[in-house]
Amino acid sequence: MKNLFDLKDKVVAITGGSGVLGSAMVTYMCSQGAKVVILGRRQEAGEAQLKALQDQAGEACFMTTNVLDEAILKQNAADIKARYGRLDILVNAAGGNMKGATIPPESTFLDLNMEDFRQVVDLNLLGTVMPTMAFAPLMIEQHKGSIINFSSMAALRPLTRVVGYAASKAAVTNFTKYMATELATKFGSGLRINALAPGFFLTKQNKDLLTRPDGSLTDRGQCIIDQTPFGRFGEPEELFGTLHYLASDASAFVTGTVAIVDGGYDSFSI
Ligand SMILES: NC(=O)c1ccc[n+]([C@@H]2O[C@H](COP(=O)([O-])OP(=O)(O)OC[C@H]3O[C@@H](n4cnc5c(N)ncnc54)[C@H](O)[C@@H]3O)[C@@H](O)[C@H]2O)c1
Repeated sequence: MKNLFDLKDKVVAITGGSGVLGSAMVTYMCSQGAKVVILGRRQEAGEAQLKALQDQAGEACFMTTNVLDEAILKQNAADIKARYGRLDILVNAAGGNMKGATIPPESTFLDLNMEDFRQVVDLNLLGTVMPTMAFAPLMIEQHKGSIINFSSMAALRPLTRVVGYAASKAAVTNFTKYMATELATKFGSGLRINALAPGFFLTKQNKDLLTRPDGSLTDRGQCIIDQTPFGRFGEPEELFGTLHYLASDASAFVTGTVAIVDGGYDSFSI
């Protein structure tokens, strides 16, 4: 019987591929025999990653990108087509937050920095929409492809403070569902799009909000742990199984869904 989870020789592009979760996913996909295109902003970071991937079953290459630049993204798509002739999986993992789009306890919504808010919305929303537009034509051509976006707990239950991030991730969830219908009805059921909604994983972006310099939890960090039935933050490798499922034919009838990977945070009440 066919192995529904086979990713060998699948061509996978991962934006934010040098980030904390992105680089972990690059390594995982490569270990499964996939051909991984790391789409990142810094060439040096990509080169270092490639060295560390040499012993994996698959292969990897690095391409410089900016998920907010249409011309660069189109060039990336052309380069992927020239190198591999196809693209099977797109993971839109580039994203993040900015201090000015966050409201600290001593401020209110009235203090919100509109320019920072706009930049965060651009990065998370347009930074998902624009790569999808640039790379979808490769998948449409081959009548098959799986796109995986990055939503967040903040999209499902708005968290205090991170107003720009939460609004833009909610928009990513909405876009994912919109696109599921758009892709299937206009281009066929081989084209799928889903989102991952990770709970709390300690990364550069949230470390200062969740932990103190000595490693102990801030009040906010403790509050999150208290509301997470598993009683801890997630580890990047705990995303791999869900990523693999959404990327592979194992989820062939699945589109427009948001897969929550959060140690129970979303289910917790009292
Ligand atoms: N860490 C968490 O707890 C968590 C929770 C929910 C969702 N997420 C989401 O997961 C994804 C990965 O996050 P992470 O925690 O690994 O963060 P990260 O900051 O380590 O990775 C984000 C990557 O995006 C890249 N990036 C930023 N702007 C870009 C641009 N214009 N063009 C191309 N790349 C750009 C950054 O260089 C970085 O490598 C993000 O979308 C994030 O919002 C993270």
